[in-house]
Amino acid sequence: MRFETLAIHAGERPDKAFGAISVPIYQTSTFAFEDVGKTRGYDYSRTANPTRKVLEDTLAQLEGGKAGFAFATGMAAETTVVHLLKAGDHVISGDDVYGGTYRLFQNVMHDLGLEFTFLRMNKRQAIEQAIKPNTRMIWIETPSNPLLNITDVEIVVDIAKKHDILTVIDNTFATPYFLRPIEYGVDLVVHSTTKYLNGHCDVVGGAVVTTTDELTQKVQFLLNAMGTCASPFDCWLVLRGIQTLPLRMKKHEENAMAVASYLQSHKAVSRVLYPCIESHPGHEIAKRQMKGFGGVVSFELKGGIKAVDNFLKRLKVFSLAESLGGVASLAEHPATMSHASMPPDYRAKIGISDSLIRLSVGLENIDDLIADLEQSLKPK
Ligand SMILES: Cc1ncc(COP(=O)(O)O)c(C=O)c1O
Repeated sequence: MRFETLAIHAGERPDKAFGAISVPIYQTSTFAFEDVGKTRGYDYSRTANPTRKVLEDTLAQLEGGKAGFAFATGMAAETTVVHLLKAGDHVISGDDVYGGTYRLFQNVMHDLGLEFTFLRMNKRQAIEQAIKPNTRMIWIETPSNPLLNITDVEIVVDIAKKHDILTVIDNTFATPYFLRPIEYGVDLVVHSTTKYLNGHCDVVGGAVVTTTDELTQKVQFLLNAMGTCASPFDCWLVLRGIQTLPLRMKKHEENAMAVASYLQSHKAVSRVLYPCIESHPGHEIAKRQMKGFGGVVSFELKGGIKAVDNFLKRLKVFSLAESLGGVASLAEHPATMSHASMPPDYRAKIGISDSLIRLSVGLENIDDLIADLEQSLKPK
């Protein structure tokens, strides 16, 4: 079955019990045993739950992986994945990952004995040079948040395989509709399902998709042992969102392209970051590697923090809010919001300036979105 069909039919649908077309929400913590030592397939919802299972099977099929796992948040998924490692192991990570990922690595896992090297993943030589005898994992985020840098997944996988290193990709921005990392040989895919997969800003959730039986067993063990799983109702919301993922992603991209080209022509804007733009350093890789460029556009305003403040205050259709990937357009200021957990000198080093604004372009009428940007960018 093709992507659009899987998004609607993957997993056990209709439900086996009564043929419900909408996946039932099995809002139960526990399940009655048929007999001593004999379950009906489920015993306790932390370990497994039928609603969660449909979402997990859907995620696995959409990514083309072995098994899927649904988590309480994207960070819960990431936390679980890094627990595949042990103290003393070394991780190479993109330097421009989501601020919360950086914080988890640098301020939590580092204290537990993991070692991290953060670098821009755009040069084969730099990645190869960063490898140490104890390197066990390479963490990719492409397109990256909020700079929309593109990593050539094939190159990273090639390096990793030669050194027997696990590759993990955060596929939140592209979604499996635009990027299928497992086809390039990536070992594990993680998601914040909070974003495009759910698509309606009404849930926080995460996901992991595995590629081997060994990784499946390990992730299942950690999810159960650490209790990082998603609730049945949240799974149901993500499942509902995924049914329209292909339609939404196409429209997000169409609107994002129009927004990017409008911003490029505006006098108050000094730089637009969107992989569809030909001068974007990752444009050629993105064109080859992805089926679409996504719905997030970042840009810098002339006039520093004052101009940013004025712009954000005046928006009417775009809301000033964290997060992205929902039907409603959002604007945010990475330096004080999504990436505030990165130290200012680190942000400056990787290119997140105080003038940078990230837009999650939603599904509203494009004329209304452009008009909103226009009135907010007008000189005061
Ligand atoms: C790329 C990326 N990965 C992971 C996360 C963390 O996900 P969550 O907020 O669902 O914990 C985010 C959140 O913004 C994100 O943008």
